[in-house]
Amino acid sequence: MISKEACSVLDNLQRPLRDLRISVTDRCNLRCTYCMPGEVFGRDFIFLRHAELLSFEEIVRTARQCIALGVRKIRLSGGEPLLRHGIERLIEMLAGLHDDDGKPIELAMTSNATLLAKKARALKDAGLMRLNISLDALDENIFHHMTGSSVSPGTVLEGIDAAQSVGLVPVKVNAVIKRGVNESEILPLIRRFRHTGVIMRFIEYMDVGNTNGWRLDDVVTSSEILARIDREHPLIPIDPHSPDGVAQRWVFQDGGGEIGVISSVTQAFCHTCSRLRLSTDGKLYTCLFATEGVDLRALLRAKSNDDTALRQRIAATWHCRTDRYSQLRHEMTEALPGRIEMSYIGG
Ligand code: GTP
Ligand code: 5AD
Ligand code: SF4
Ligand code: SF4
Repeated sequence: MISKEACSVLDNLQRPLRDLRISVTDRCNLRCTYCMPGEVFGRDFIFLRHAELLSFEEIVRTARQCIALGVRKIRLSGGEPLLRHGIERLIEMLAGLHDDDGKPIELAMTSNATLLAKKARALKDAGLMRLNISLDALDENIFHHMTGSSVSPGTVLEGIDAAQSVGLVPVKVNAVIKRGVNESEILPLIRRFRHTGVIMRFIEYMDVGNTNGWRLDDVVTSSEILARIDREHPLIPIDPHSPDGVAQRWVFQDGGGEIGVISSVTQAFCHTCSRLRLSTDGKLYTCLFATEGVDLRALLRAKSNDDTALRQRIAATWHCRTDRYSQLRHEMTEALPGRIEMSYIGG
């Protein structure tokens, strides 16, 4: 259990630290055009070496100190987290963590589900609670184009079924919509997942990283997406799960279930952002659009093994935080150079 000395820490804009997103690998077996375009992440791309990655013990030490500072939800991401060897062991270690009232920490993962059908049972047994899965199209050709791969969307659907059957629920499916590429898939995805218990969510295409060639014209706005769905299946808005959630939630009027939209471009949610990101190689990032992180690895590998120093560095990083990139984007005349890639920082 974490000590009672625990306190919650506020950033410069009075936002608490609640959510820790941990990237466990910078590698992925897909090459989604909006995240790891194949032209950039090709054969010659240099990924992190094993020695550069935080070990599971180092990740857990960091998570423990983040919990002492207010974190109540941990999400494993990547890259593709199921590519990290022994990931079940990390889940087991994290699932053993509690807050200062003895309550377990919410433990979730964001995955592309291509390796999930075989792993779902082991993930559940290790203590994973929920899964969010990326699926941008049901049509084979559009899926191949969006993911830069020859994997079939059927493989992802099998992964989703496996997650549901072992009780990793509710499964949320994330689709990033790009104008003229997969906007035709909005309604097929809706029809596929209505009445299944899966929460289908549509994400506005973001200008994260420097490699995806983002243009505002390629963004299909949430309001446009909702209007298209509402015409076929009328929707009713519902309240957010928590004050700092990223999705706006809706239910089908006819009882067909829940959907969501994530409007990072048109309706920024920085004012409630309580997310801290830990990169694969042990840097803390206080924003998805950050250009620099705070190194924890040297401290984690120092002989002193000083957890107080570790906690102080995390607290100081959060305390100084002023990030609100998505809100400021509208005022910028050009994109910030040097932003880190989503696959490295963890979506
Ligand atoms: P739950 O609400 O717990 O299910 O998780 P989540 O929605 O926070 O996690 P998920 O990984 O599914 O995130 C969905 C998408 O929301 C991400 O892929 C991003 O596109 C977007 N997103 C998540 N966090 C942030 C953030 O802090 N800033 C911005 N701009 N976008 C975010
Ligand atoms: N814009 C919006 N969402 C993105 N993701 C990755 N890159 C982008 C982007 N440029 C999302 C994926 C996945 C999660 C890991 O991040 O859809 O759900
Ligand atoms: Fe891989 Fe997810 Fe990025 Fe696609 S969005 S390349 S599946 S990390
Ligand atoms: Fe948080 Fe940065 Fe995203 Fe705003 S842009 S919601 S501050 S991660």
